[in-house]
Amino acid sequence: MSDRDVETGPLLHTLLLLSGANLQLLGSREPEIYGRSTLEEHVHAARTAAHALGCELEHLQSNHEGVLVDAIGASRGKYSAIIINPGAFTHYSWALHDALATCSFPIIELHLSNPHRREEWRHTSVVSSVATSVITGLGADGYPLAVQAAVRLLEASDTAGTFSVSPI
Ligand code: DQA
Repeated sequence: MSDRDVETGPLLHTLLLLSGANLQLLGSREPEIYGRSTLEEHVHAARTAAHALGCELEHLQSNHEGVLVDAIGASRGKYSAIIINPGAFTHYSWALHDALATCSFPIIELHLSNPHRREEWRHTSVVSSVATSVITGLGADGYPLAVQAAVRLLEASDTAGTFSVSPI
C-alpha cells in the first residue's frame, strides 16, 4: 500500500471521453488514415487503461456539436478530466472551445491522425488553446496514452497544485 493509500484512500477519478463527428464510423471510415479499430475498441482500450490506474471512464459520441457542449457544461463536479477527439469540430467549433474554457481540470485533445500532416484546413484547432495537452498521430495507442496523461496530470496537480508535468 502506498503512502497515498494510507493517508487519503485510493485515488479514484472518473474521466469523460468525448468523441465528435463521424467517429462512430471508425473501423470502416478511411482505414488508411484512421486504422481498422472501431470506436468501441478505442473506448475499451481507454477504459482498460483507466481501470488499471484505479479510475473510471465514461464515453459519449455525438455528431451534434450542442450535445457535446451540453456534456462539457454538465461535467463540473462529475469528472476529473476530459479526453476529447472532436473530429471535424476541432477545426471550427468555437462553441466547443468556449465550453472547454470553463473547465478547471485537465483536458486532453486527442486525434488518431496527425492533422498537421494533412489538408491545410485541418492545421487549425480551435480546441488546442484550451487543452492542457494534445496527442496526435499515434493511432489507437493515443487512447490509452491519453488516459495515462490525464491521470498523470491529476496526480501532478495533487502535489504541485497545477496541471503540468515536469519536463522530461
Ligand atoms: C480526427 C482528425 C480530424 O481532422 C477529422 O475531422 C476527424 C478525425 C482524428 O482523430 O485524426 O474526424 O480528429
